[in-house]
Amino acid sequence: DIDHLTWLITWIGGICLLLAEGVLFYSAVRFRRRGARPARYSTGEVWSQARWVLIPVMVVVALDLLIDVANASAWHEIKGSIPRSHCRVRIVGQQFAWHFTLAGRDEEFDTDDDVRTVGELHVPAYTDVNFELQARDVLHSFWVPSLRLKQDAVPGRTIPGWFRALETGSYDIACAEICGAGHSLMSARLVVHDPDEYGRWIRERSSGTKAPLTVQQLMTDRGCFACHSTDGSRLVGPTYQDLFGRETRVFTDGRERTLQVDEEYLRRSILDPQADIVQGYPPTMPAQQNLSEAELALILEYLKSCR
Ligand code: CUA
Repeated sequence: DIDHLTWLITWIGGICLLLAEGVLFYSAVRFRRRGARPARYSTGEVWSQARWVLIPVMVVVALDLLIDVANASAWHEIKGSIPRSHCRVRIVGQQFAWHFTLAGRDEEFDTDDDVRTVGELHVPAYTDVNFELQARDVLHSFWVPSLRLKQDAVPGRTIPGWFRALETGSYDIACAEICGAGHSLMSARLVVHDPDEYGRWIRERSSGTKAPLTVQQLMTDRGCFACHSTDGSRLVGPTYQDLFGRETRVFTDGRERTLQVDEEYLRRSILDPQADIVQGYPPTMPAQQNLSEAELALILEYLKSCR
């Protein structure tokens, strides 16, 4: 249905484009300036003039309505009733990564058997998957081209939806809403498993007894590595490599200054990222709330060790 709509819109838009450009080029050649003949000014008040605008407008509106009518059945089919499935996932967009929480066997979120991943969504093939889509900071759009699935994520709302993957394999997920400096980096993979293989995959990860979080898991979960590299390469934010102790130029309250990266600076940059903005980088980092002192200490230790 979505392909059909896409083609319908492409054909209608394409034909209108060719017609309009054709008339434009024909007129430019046919009525080009020859000698010094003054142009006639038309006010468009009489029908014989106004019809050149009004009839095309009516045609375009009619074609628009045609697309709406064709759209209605697809909308109803996809959005009208969301099949209830035992496979549930919460998808959260954040500058600049996708976070996924699979509900696990109890089909409830925020319980011990949840399986959390960042940048990779694992689902079984031939199975309806329920999702609820959220945004942590700004508008994002969850887009899986090969599923013909695109849904905006809106801060403050939980938007339900569903899909069913019909072939195993690995597919692109992208963000389709300009959401800041790292928008183009905000990609992920959809991994579609054979159902048996998926059963094994999720059993291995949702044992119920959780090992304590490693600092890498904690930081992956927070989206840190979506914007900061550890190997010196430039992403949205400065790299972590050789971070501790280096001199860095920052803007503080609009004034430029040089400082040496120490623990106090790192702590401030995590809790209040807008306080000092490193020169050459956009002020887009979200403040990290709800970090415990222990977690913060872990992250600081990690950052000091990045060489
Ligand atoms: Cu998120 Cu673009």
